[in-house]
Amino acid sequence: MSELTFRRASTDDVMLLDVMSNAPHVFPSLGTDQPWDWPREVEASWQEVWIIDLSATSKPIGVVVVLDAAADPSGYWGEVSPGTYAIDIWISDASQLRKGYGTVMMKHAIDRCFHVHNAHTILIDPLAKNEGAIAFYQHLGFEVIGARTFGADECIVLRLRGPDSGRD
Ligand SMILES: CC(C)(COP(=O)(O)OP(=O)(O)OC[C@H]1O[C@@H](n2cnc3c(N)ncnc32)[C@H](O)[C@@H]1OP(=O)(O)O)[C@@H](O)C(=O)NCCC(=O)NCCS
Repeated sequence: MSELTFRRASTDDVMLLDVMSNAPHVFPSLGTDQPWDWPREVEASWQEVWIIDLSATSKPIGVVVVLDAAADPSGYWGEVSPGTYAIDIWISDASQLRKGYGTVMMKHAIDRCFHVHNAHTILIDPLAKNEGAIAFYQHLGFEVIGARTFGADECIVLRLRGPDSGRD
C-alpha cells in the first residue's frame, strides 16, 4: 500500500485547509497576492484541491493544488495559452518535511496536469527568497524562466514542459 493517500478536498475541508495553510513554516511561503479563499477554491471548476493523508494514520500532512492557469478567471498568470497549468504545494506537518513526500505529491500533480488535463506546460511561482522550494522544483526537472512580481510578491517562475509539448 502507498504511504500517502490523495483525496479531493470539499467544502467540508475548508477549516482544515485554513489550518494547513496557516502553519508557521508554510504561511510565509505562500505569498500575499490573492490569499486563499477556501470556500471558493474547493468549488472552482478550473482547479483541483488535493489533501494528502499519511495512509497509516489518516493524518493530513499536505496540500497540492492543480489549476488551469488559462481558465482562472482572476487572470493571476496573465496571458497564457490554453493548456498552461500551475501547481501550488505545501507540507503542513513540519515533522514530515524532507522525507520525499513533496516529491510524491508533485508527481501526482504533474501526472494530473499532463495525463488527465492534457496540459503542455506547468508553471510554478515560489517566492524568490524561498530557495529551498526552488531547489525542490529544479530537482523535479523544472527550469527557471525568470523573476516576476505578483502584487507585492517577488517570485521566481519555473516551467516544466509536457512530454508531447511542441507548443508554447
Ligand atoms: C517545498 C516542499 C513541498 C518540499 O517537500 P519535501 O517533502 O520536504 O521535499 P522532498 O523530501 O520530496 O525533497 C526532494 C528533494 O528536493 C530538494 N529539496 C527539498 N527541500 C529542500 C530544501 N528546503 N532545500 C534544498 N533542497 C530541497 C532536495 O534535493 C530533496 O532531496 P534530498 O532530501 O534527498 O536532498 C516543502 O519543503 C514545503 O512544504 N515547504 C513549505 C511550504 C513551501 O515552501 N511550499 C512551496 C511554495 S512555492
